[in-house]
Amino acid sequence: MRGLATRILAVFVGLSFCLALPAQAYEAGDWLVRVGVTTVDPKDENLDVSGLFLEVDDGTTLTFNGTYFFSPNWGVEVLAAAPFNHDIQLESVGKIGETDHLPPTVSLQYHFLPDATFQPYVGLGLNATIFFSEDLNPAVGDDLDLDTSFGLAAQIGADWSLNEKWVLNFEFRWIDIDTEAKVDGASLGDVEIDPITYGINIGYKF
Ligand code: NI
Repeated sequence: MRGLATRILAVFVGLSFCLALPAQAYEAGDWLVRVGVTTVDPKDENLDVSGLFLEVDDGTTLTFNGTYFFSPNWGVEVLAAAPFNHDIQLESVGKIGETDHLPPTVSLQYHFLPDATFQPYVGLGLNATIFFSEDLNPAVGDDLDLDTSFGLAAQIGADWSLNEKWVLNFEFRWIDIDTEAKVDGASLGDVEIDPITYGINIGYKF
């Protein structure tokens, strides 16, 4: 996913210098809504459990986001998603459980080229990650509980105008997600998930 998204982005950056498509200028009061697929790719070695590392695997699901432009360059974006599902592995043991989560995020975005066909932007915001349906292998324990995480979310992305209304979008985020893991009420410590996310979306402006 990482390699593919990077290659696609490179192709579109290249195309933007060759083609003259109708530009879709952003104006104050515009909304851009996008729907697509996002992968949440946690960093490696998320928690040291007595010398063995806990690893949270990738999860991919349908995501929705909308940006409200309060000027041609500045917007506020809200990210929503269908639940992500992640397997949880223990080093040299294998899968010991899984969890679902929802990661609503609000970001302030700066769009560098609001009049261009290729419109890159950066964003900074706040993420809440809510874990639910945590499941644990009965050999490990009865009950796994993961606390809600609140943290910063940084973003880089680009909208590629297909015409005056539709865009193709690619975006990457780094999100600070840390959650205290409890097994049968006893804390294992903080699971540092801190993922990179990769999203490909189609968007519509109105
Ligand atoms: Ni962190």
